[in-house]
Amino acid sequence: MTRRVSLTRYLVEQQRADGRIPPQLRLLLEVVARACKRISFAVNKGELGEVMGSAGSENVQGEVQKKLDIIANETLIEANEWGGHLAAMASEEMEGIYVVPNRYPQGEYLLMFDPLDGSSNIDINMSIGTIFSVLKKHDAHPGVHDSDFFQPGNQQVAAGYCIYGPQTTLVLTVGDGVAMFTLDREQGSFILIEENIKIPEDTKEFAINMSNMRHWDEPMKRYIDECLAGEDGPRGKNFNMRWVAAMVADVHRILCRGGVFMYPWDKREPHKAGKLRLMYEANPMSWLIEQAGGASTNCRERIMDIQPTELHQRVAVVLGSKNEVERVTRYHLEADK
Ligand code: F6P
Ligand code: MN
Repeated sequence: MTRRVSLTRYLVEQQRADGRIPPQLRLLLEVVARACKRISFAVNKGELGEVMGSAGSENVQGEVQKKLDIIANETLIEANEWGGHLAAMASEEMEGIYVVPNRYPQGEYLLMFDPLDGSSNIDINMSIGTIFSVLKKHDAHPGVHDSDFFQPGNQQVAAGYCIYGPQTTLVLTVGDGVAMFTLDREQGSFILIEENIKIPEDTKEFAINMSNMRHWDEPMKRYIDECLAGEDGPRGKNFNMRWVAAMVADVHRILCRGGVFMYPWDKREPHKAGKLRLMYEANPMSWLIEQAGGASTNCRERIMDIQPTELHQRVAVVLGSKNEVERVTRYHLEADK
């Protein structure tokens, strides 16, 4: 019989092997996975579970909240607040941080999440997901402040996402490679399907919202123009394009078969560095991609080295197959000179 390794067993073995996962972090990851399981069941019920449609409210970024955005956010908070492993949480769907209430013991970890990434896909039955990132609270000062969260992505101690697609799959790193687990719905547990995932360094597939092309910077246009020129152009090969409009799904595809994902700065909102959120989206995805041998920049510098100054900070993102990310970054740096 083939050995089926559950997420629980995987985490226990990681803890034993080299103490990479302290017990409190193991608990945290188990709890996040349990919350994702609940979200997966809610997503799966769709219209039958009365979870579809708008909640009639807006989040701090002025985006309309879907019912499932709120359900996912509450599920993650309820699951995580009482275990004693966390000091506080921050979410794309909440304006301020959520400090663990006094009635529960406080732990040393900080959890950040995009509870339901790609929420415009909810109503059309397409892939969506939960993205999460874990930091350690460093300062011993009492209480928790926003500034405790202002750590660059290279300080993450765990990161991952759960994609709710044809299968529900949890993808995780604790700094020792990337592992994937698929939810066995009958058994109710996540089962390891692949370890040490590696992204090819070269690719012929890019992901970008092409409808924004006229708003991009010259180096971004140059890169895409060259891809579009195909075999006859400077790249000498034909490229394919994919865009799911859910970062979680586009990144998942890249982890499975390579590719490059881009959400660059554009002229529509020039004062914003980009569309995606540094702490809830870009940092955790960047770490997964780097752990799989890929690269991730904001078109100029490594995303995980950016020092955050705001909770809901935005960032331009280029991530995926190493050689393509390096090329896009080089085009921008050359143009800056
Ligand atoms: O969270 C923001 C997000 O939904 C990402 O998941 C996705 O990659 C992107 O926005 C899609 O943006 P657009 O609607 O501009 O294509
Ligand atoms: Mn998102």
